[in-house]
Amino acid sequence: MAYAAFRSIGAYVPSKILSNEELSKMVDTSDEWITKRTGIKERHIAAADEFTSDMGAKAAKLAIERSGLKKSEIDMIVCATISPDYFCMPSTATIISTKLGLGNITAFDISAACTGFVYILSIAKAFIESGMKKNILIIGAEKLSAITDYSDRGTCILFGDGAGAAVISATENKEEAIIDIHTGSDGEFADLLMTPNGGSGSAHDALEQEATSCFMQMRGNETFKVAVKTLTKDVIDILRENSIQSSDIKHFVPHQANYRIIKAVGDALKLKDEQVVLTVEKYGNTSGASIPMAINDIYESGRLQAGELMLLDAFGGGLTWGSALVPFAPFKK
Ligand code: ACO
Repeated sequence: MAYAAFRSIGAYVPSKILSNEELSKMVDTSDEWITKRTGIKERHIAAADEFTSDMGAKAAKLAIERSGLKKSEIDMIVCATISPDYFCMPSTATIISTKLGLGNITAFDISAACTGFVYILSIAKAFIESGMKKNILIIGAEKLSAITDYSDRGTCILFGDGAGAAVISATENKEEAIIDIHTGSDGEFADLLMTPNGGSGSAHDALEQEATSCFMQMRGNETFKVAVKTLTKDVIDILRENSIQSSDIKHFVPHQANYRIIKAVGDALKLKDEQVVLTVEKYGNTSGASIPMAINDIYESGRLQAGELMLLDAFGGGLTWGSALVPFAPFKK
């Protein structure tokens, strides 16, 4: 049987920065409030003509180069995004595939909001373990600024743009294998966090449509409470089911939504500060891109080394959640 190994990482962040100070001139908020309640100091915003696929392609190019594979060896591409270039079709994955010149390979998007990267990791693992594919490019890419209402202080302070990508490949070496992935959802909580307009679910006369914006709406405090409860249970479960102690985790890489959520889950696992990866201060919440962007940060700083075990966890709209136990397993040179 083939196992799935996490081979390489890449990321891209747009150059323009939106600071808390700038936001406090746009809505009734302050650097002090945002910092204290979320841990966010700034976020990056894509240019008007810079699309989710452009950011995804840049992150993916880096991940392929770092994997050491030829482009022709990539046999599938999956993109997790809630801010695709085009809402219905074509998928952002097909656009990225063409921008990178990957040929006529299997390409599709999935929608699991901030849990998107954990979901596409599980898809890649399943395709590889079934023997259907060998080298899969997974991408979390978001231009959340395109679906953010910059007059709503409850959401606009949170979100940023960016992309992260990884190559997942078949291996026969069990020590390199992704150990386990949990994914879950509960549509009962769908209205806590949603884009109510722009889809077939929005109430409008189909023959006399009005232009509707596709902005995110969130009941933040309720979402916060469900996130802490659900994530804490999920990470405790995945460690227990795999007989892994929290002290065995080298890098806890949570979705970067809010420092206080990360701290609560880290405390529940009794993690030390040096085990926890934090990028929320400089990128804000980049939804499906946040985990691979954070992994890329520790890779580029030299903090992530071959063989080290990562615990990923994420929570987002749907509601969806997930966690994963992932050794970093670059190809040996
Ligand atoms: N600046 C100043 N005051 C604010 C702001 C702001 N930007 N936003 C809200 N407030 C006010 C509220 O109006 C409220 O005022 P009141 O007490 O007079 O009524 C007060 O601050 C407290 O508001 P809460 O919503 O209770 O604040 P909370 O501490 O919960 O922080 C936040 C809000 C940051 C949104 C937090 O709830 C959060 O992070 N929620 C989880 C987000 C998340 O994880 N989402 C899932 C992933 S995202 C995805 O899937 C796309």
